[in-house]
Amino acid sequence: MIQLESLKDVEPCAPAESACQRCIRPACGATYELTAALQRCERCGALLDVAYDWERLPVPARLELFDERRGNFRNPLDYSGVWRFRELLPFAELDKVLSIGEGQTQLRRTDGVADYVGLKPGGLHLQYEGLNPSGSFKDNGMTGAFTHARMVGAKYAACASTGNTSASLALFAGVSGLLRAVVFVGSGKIAYGKLSQALDYGAATLQIDGDFDDAMRQVQEVCRQTSLYLMNSLNPFRLEGQKAIMYRVLEGLGWEVPDWVVVPGGNLGNSSAFGKAFSELHCLGLIDRIPRVAIINSTGADTLTRLVNDHGLRWNGGDVDDAAIARFYQQMDVEGRRARTIASAIEINRPVNLDKALRTLEVTHGVVRAVPDEAILDAKAQVGAHGYGCEPASGASVAGAKRLVEEGVIDRDARVVCILTGHLLKDPHATVGYHSYEPEKLRTEFAEFKIREARHANRPIPVRDDIDDILRIVREL
Ligand code: F0G
Repeated sequence: MIQLESLKDVEPCAPAESACQRCIRPACGATYELTAALQRCERCGALLDVAYDWERLPVPARLELFDERRGNFRNPLDYSGVWRFRELLPFAELDKVLSIGEGQTQLRRTDGVADYVGLKPGGLHLQYEGLNPSGSFKDNGMTGAFTHARMVGAKYAACASTGNTSASLALFAGVSGLLRAVVFVGSGKIAYGKLSQALDYGAATLQIDGDFDDAMRQVQEVCRQTSLYLMNSLNPFRLEGQKAIMYRVLEGLGWEVPDWVVVPGGNLGNSSAFGKAFSELHCLGLIDRIPRVAIINSTGADTLTRLVNDHGLRWNGGDVDDAAIARFYQQMDVEGRRARTIASAIEINRPVNLDKALRTLEVTHGVVRAVPDEAILDAKAQVGAHGYGCEPASGASVAGAKRLVEEGVIDRDARVVCILTGHLLKDPHATVGYHSYEPEKLRTEFAEFKIREARHANRPIPVRDDIDDILRIVREL
């Protein structure tokens, strides 16, 4: 298991600094100052972490001490569901923090879904990140990245997106007026709810004739050639903000540690942030054990699942088999295999945070699974029927938990938290289709996603504009 103590062996931050950026590969470990705007390690090309010299930073002795900030509406730092944990992401100059009230989300015990998943009453909690201002978990990270962008004086910022990052970036830019947002999306590849947000919030919206991976490749190049600030989860300051999702999970459980956290995997930013959060809390002595993290792909976009479960790829103490990854991607190209899933948020071929997700799997003794789109939509309908609802990608976490219970990997009496990453209204097309298409239409419209049955469809009832007909139907309900 990776202990933060072991990081003491690597290059420390510069003597006067208590925080810096550090290459995640221990063999390199190069450090950079906080105010550098980098995409990757300039020495070896690996991902970067925000690293802290915790001995020089004030850290609360117990997590309970955060309780008194909750509900303080007067101080925006306390009101934010990210910055009220500011001692756990202490990179920010506090007068530069840019918050739009993110992270007012809820952890809810949901017994109806627990039953569906195969867990005992009280065994399942859903973390509703769709309640964020832009309707997805991305706002947790965006406040971190915007704060850093303000620290470095950025005037323009860009991201590639399957729709939620772009919505969040556009919203933060619109509300703050701090910078101009440029978003890169695959043409026809993002759900309408999300596209409507980027347009309405005023972001320059580039519809690339390609998919997310193409947009991701181009945005990195554009940011290299210009002064645009990159807001994708390659940006380590975004992931610092996303750690707060786990702080709120612990808070929601009265600071008890769950047995499992189940999260959908796309570009693998969230899973990376969760591993870092738990690793740090453990090393700081603020939790006594680390929950296991399960990362769930769609079978239509299952790069991580294949690499880990079929090819045995591991973090391996930071000595990742890059050649195996390169061979895998080359094979994908040779076969012309491209990600395709109704969970468009996670329709990604080459997840940029792969290394960090592998590290999370090692730190948390985690697992990876892929679930079919049909199971994702069934699970999503169960969430909708018992809670606030979610978008398809979020349903993957519940479908994944169900699968892991069936496999016996998750015990039936375990305490499990599934992360619902995005709001139901993000993708009405998938939801309305699932509930309203006749079986044959369902199979043709959703053929490419191999969806054959909608087991939990709540069909709309057609009725003539006639009071007797309407009454007959109402009485039969
Ligand atoms: N769920 C939703 C609703 C998402 O929007 C995303 C990612 C994920 C899950 C996967 O999270 O990338 O941290 O593994 N959306 C990105 C975007 C890619 O551009 O909005 P991840």
